[in-house]
Amino acid sequence: MKFFIDTASLDEIREAHDMGVLDGVTTNPSLMKKEGAEDFHAHIKAICDLVDGDVSAEIVSTEYDAMVDEAREVAQIADNVVVKVPLILDGIKTIKTLSDEGIRTNCTLCFSPTQALIAAKAGATYISPFIGRLDDISSDGMKLIREIVQIYDQYGYETEVLAASIRHPMHVVESALAGADVATMPLDVIKKLLKHPLTDSGLERFLTDWEAYQQEIGQ
Ligand code: E4P
Repeated sequence: MKFFIDTASLDEIREAHDMGVLDGVTTNPSLMKKEGAEDFHAHIKAICDLVDGDVSAEIVSTEYDAMVDEAREVAQIADNVVVKVPLILDGIKTIKTLSDEGIRTNCTLCFSPTQALIAAKAGATYISPFIGRLDDISSDGMKLIREIVQIYDQYGYETEVLAASIRHPMHVVESALAGADVATMPLDVIKKLLKHPLTDSGLERFLTDWEAYQQEIGQ
């Protein structure tokens, strides 16, 4: 399973990259706003330079012609940029055009299996089902991941399932069990993935015993 970090913060990306487990980055307009990134292209370029893997950069146009123009410009930023396109009618048409041109896309804001099926048919590189936002409205985000994986497997679609809107480690575990290709998550969730209280208490005990033993043998 690939791990992406869901942020526009260069510091957070550096920290996750330094852990040695980072495969890519996803951003969105809200994350760019949070980061205060005024020059969109320059900021995306800086992120692309930091990581080897794919970096999703979202377009903000909502009509086909403008979406295609904006997407082509974004695609020029770096070799590892992936154009993030919202799952609306003009977005699907845009993905089809970009796919025919060899431009890679991440189809975002997916909340149903039918949306995911259409995105795959249009040739999206990634589909981003939003788990947490479905859970927020008392729906089942994980069920959506399982259904999309099953549908894509059944028909051999190459579109990768990118589990998004992840809020906690169990979303990652269940996405992995369901066969999602990628999990994108905030830095704090990445850090939580390696924590276990028995690891911490076990290490403390080992080190204490070792110290006592060293004193016993006069080291
Ligand atoms: C995915 O690409 C989105 O940027 C992100 O996962 C949305 O997460 P949120 O629902 O926590 O905003």
